[in-house]
Amino acid sequence: MRVFLTGFMGSGKTTVGRLLSDRLELPFVDLDREIELRAGMSVREIFEAGGEALFRRLEQEALAAAVARPEAVIATGGGTVTVEPNLRLLEQGDAVSVWLDPPFSVISQRIGALGKEDRPLFQTEAQALDLYRRRLPAYRRSAIRMAVEAGEQPEEVAARIALLLEGGGG
Ligand code: S3P
Repeated sequence: MRVFLTGFMGSGKTTVGRLLSDRLELPFVDLDREIELRAGMSVREIFEAGGEALFRRLEQEALAAAVARPEAVIATGGGTVTVEPNLRLLEQGDAVSVWLDPPFSVISQRIGALGKEDRPLFQTEAQALDLYRRRLPAYRRSAIRMAVEAGEQPEEVAARIALLLEGGGG
């Protein structure tokens, strides 16, 4: 089975994804990291070199490569599911997508703490809130919505997802 974690920047996809992959004993793939490895550049450098268009092209290639694995937990980037052909890759074969959905206030706080340097599409809180709202319909297309409460630990979120998936709730 392939499990995709979707959601806005700062929603916990990488942290929860890693923990979930341990629980499910599946390999973990962080899409942004794969893109960086394949390009030999950081996300920021890719945006500087070719803008969002170049980033999306590399993202789609990395996603196609990730989908070639029959079994993995894959943390997508915040914009992956906003591109229609990517959605088809996400739905291919034995796969489930899980939207990590904390309140925007939590996201904004986290990005503030993690730094915006690595996230060219998070500029100001107002701009990011606007982007978040416009993307909600895309996130809603995920098979499972996992509401995450402020203060909830990533271990708890991963445990809840594992329970859902192992119980056949996915
Ligand atoms: C993006 C989110 C980032 C990264 C890139 C673009 C987006 O991933 O893929 O900066 O469009 O929201 P994270 O969601 O892991 O921060």
